[in-house]
Amino acid sequence: MRKILVTSALPYANAPLHIGHIVEYTQTDIWARFQKMRGNRCWYICADDAHGTPIMLHARQKGIPPEELIRQMSEEHQADFRDFRIGFDNYHSTHSEENRELAELIYQRNLEAGHIVARTITQLYDPQEGMFLPDRFIKGECPKCGAADQYGDSCEVCGATYSPTELKNPYSAVSGAKPIEKETEHLFFRLQDFEEMLREWTRGGHLQPEVANKLDEWFEAGLREWDISRDAPYFGFEIPGHPGKYFYVWLDAPIGYMASFKNFCGKQGLDFDEYWAEGSDAELFHFIGKDIIYFHALFWPAMLHGAGFRKPTTIHAHGFLTVNGQKMSKSRGSFIKARTYLEHLNPEYLRYYFAAKLGAGVDDIDLNLEDFVQRVNSDLVGKVVNIASRNAGFITKRFGGRLSTELAEPALFDEFVAAGDSIAGHYEKREFSRAVREIMKLADRANQYIDEKEPWVVAKQEGRDRELQDICSMGINLFKVLIGYLRPILPGTAEASEAFLQIEPQQWSDIATPLLDHEIGKFKPLMTRVDPKKVEAMVEASKEDMTAKPQKEEAKKEAATSTIEYEEFAKVDLRIARIARAELVEGADKLLRLTLDLGNGETRNVFAGIKAAYPEPEKLEGRLTVMVANLAPRKMKFGVSEGMVLAAGPGGKEIYLLSPDEGAQPGMKVK
Ligand code: 2FM
Ligand code: ZN
Repeated sequence: MRKILVTSALPYANAPLHIGHIVEYTQTDIWARFQKMRGNRCWYICADDAHGTPIMLHARQKGIPPEELIRQMSEEHQADFRDFRIGFDNYHSTHSEENRELAELIYQRNLEAGHIVARTITQLYDPQEGMFLPDRFIKGECPKCGAADQYGDSCEVCGATYSPTELKNPYSAVSGAKPIEKETEHLFFRLQDFEEMLREWTRGGHLQPEVANKLDEWFEAGLREWDISRDAPYFGFEIPGHPGKYFYVWLDAPIGYMASFKNFCGKQGLDFDEYWAEGSDAELFHFIGKDIIYFHALFWPAMLHGAGFRKPTTIHAHGFLTVNGQKMSKSRGSFIKARTYLEHLNPEYLRYYFAAKLGAGVDDIDLNLEDFVQRVNSDLVGKVVNIASRNAGFITKRFGGRLSTELAEPALFDEFVAAGDSIAGHYEKREFSRAVREIMKLADRANQYIDEKEPWVVAKQEGRDRELQDICSMGINLFKVLIGYLRPILPGTAEASEAFLQIEPQQWSDIATPLLDHEIGKFKPLMTRVDPKKVEAMVEASKEDMTAKPQKEEAKKEAATSTIEYEEFAKVDLRIARIARAELVEGADKLLRLTLDLGNGETRNVFAGIKAAYPEPEKLEGRLTVMVANLAPRKMKFGVSEGMVLAAGPGGKEIYLLSPDEGAQPGMKVK
C-alpha cells in the first residue's frame, strides 16, 4: 500500500473561486479519489493562502480586520469546494499556529546553514500611507510606450516588463500619493546555494518534461537570491529577531501544505515525520497551475532541502482555462464564479467535462459551452445513465428487483473488467481524457448489447421471462462496471448509483465482481440533461456579477484618494429623514425596506443592508436618521432604491445608523 500526500495550490483568501480554479481542484480530486479507490493510503490536503498586502488592503477597504476577512473567505471557499465535491481530508489556513511554527523552523534552519542573508535595498514607499509598495500597487505611465495607468511590473498595452522605479509619473494605487525611494533592510534566501541539487532534482523525474525544459532557461539565466521579507504594515508572520519585518507570503504559502497536514495529524493521530522527514517513503504530490512553477519547482525544494525535510515526489502543472476559446472575460460573462455555476448547473457536468479534456501536459484547456452541453448530454445522460434506466424498470417490475443468478454473457463482462488495468493506468498518469475515452467506448458497447438484445421486445413475448431477466441483469452489471470506473470523476452520481444498486461504495477491486442474485433498489433518474437555457442564465448572471464590480473598484479608488474638492462634496444632498416604516424584505438575507419621510409629504423607498444589525425593523420606526437624497435611483432585485441611509461600522451586526441631535426635522439639509 502506497502512502500518498496530495495537495492543490492554496487559494488566496482574497476573492471567491472561479471555474478556472475548479479545473485544478477537480484534477487533483479525481487523482486522489482514484488513489483511495485503489486502496492506497492517500490524504488530500489544502488550506487558504491568507497572507500578503492585497489581503491586508482588502480587509482595510472593507473596514474589517484581516482575520475576519480570511475567516469569511475560508467559509465561502469551503462551501464551494464541498458543493463541487472536492473531497479534502483537511482544509486549514496559512494563518495558523502550525504554519507559524513550521515557517520559523524552516527559516531558522536555513539561516543557521548560511542560506539567508540581509541586504539593504531601495524600494518605492508611499509617504502618505507609511508603507512600502509592492509592484502591483504602483501605477504610472509605461516607460516604453507611455500608456497611462500601468502597473509597476509590466505594461498591459505593449507587454513591456520593467522595474517600478522606471515608471513615469508613478503614483501609489493605495493613496494616489507620489511614491518616494527609501532604503530598507530585507532578508534574502540564497537560491544559488542549491543550484547543483536543483539541477539534479529537476531532471530526476519529478516534473513533466516540458516543465523541466522550461526550468533550464532559468538555470541558464542564473539562480538569484530571493527576497523573503516584507516591511510592516503587512499581514503575515513577523520574522523572529527582526521586529517590523514579515515573511513574504510566498515563503509561508507552500509551508501551508505541511501546516495543514500537521493540523490533520493532530486530529487523526498520524505521524507527521513519516510523511515529511528526509528519506520518507511516502509520496508527496503537488498539483499546481503553470504560472506558479517557479515557486514550487525551485524555491520550495530548496527551502525544504535547506531545512532537512524531504522534497516533493511529483509536481504536476496544468494549463489555464479558456472559455469558448478565449481568456475568461467579465464582459462576455465567461468569468464564471464557482458559486454562480453551482446556482445554475450540476457540478458533476463540469467535473466530467474537465476530465474529458485533461491530459498529463500543461496545455490550456477550453470550456466550449455548446460542446459542454452536447458532450455531457450525449455521454453521461445518453450513454451511461441510460444503460441503467433501460434495464432497471424491467428488473423492478417483473422480477421484484432481483438480478439473475448468472451472467448471460460472461465474456462481455470480462471484456469490461479487462479494460480496468488500462483505465487505471491512465488515471495514474493523469491522462484523464484517455480514461474517459476508454470508458465511453465501453458504454457504447453496453448500449450496443442492449440494442441487439431488444429487451423491450422480449418483454412483450410470453415464455421469455428468464431471458428478459438475464439481458437486463447483464445491462445492470455493465452499468455497475462503468460507474465504478467513473467514480473518481463523478462521486455524486456514483453514490446515487450505489444506492440504487444497493451496494457499498465501490473500491477498484470490487468492480470485477458481478452482482448476481442480488436485489437492486428502485431506479431514480441519476442525472438530468443539461438545459442550455441554464447555461445561458449562468452566463447572464456572470455578467451581472461583474457589472457591480467596476463600480466597487471605482468606489474603492475614490475612497483611497484622501481629499476631494468642496464642490464635489457639496453635490451630495444629505437630508434628515424620519424612518416612517421599516420592514423585512421577503427573500433578501441582508436587506430592510425603509420608507423615509423627508417632510412636506415627500417619501423615499430605500433598501438598506442593515438587517443583521436591526433584526426587529419596526423598532426603527419613528427614528430620525441621515440620508443621501440625490443618489440616482437604483434598480435592485426587490424594487427601486431611491437613496441611501448613512451608517457606520464594519458590517454585519456592527452597523450603527446615524442620528441627529434633538431638534432636527425631516427634510433639513445636512451641512
Ligand atoms: O497563486 C496562488 O493562487 C497562490 N495562492 C498559490 C499558493 S500555492 C502554495 F504555495 F501555497
Ligand atoms: Zn507599454
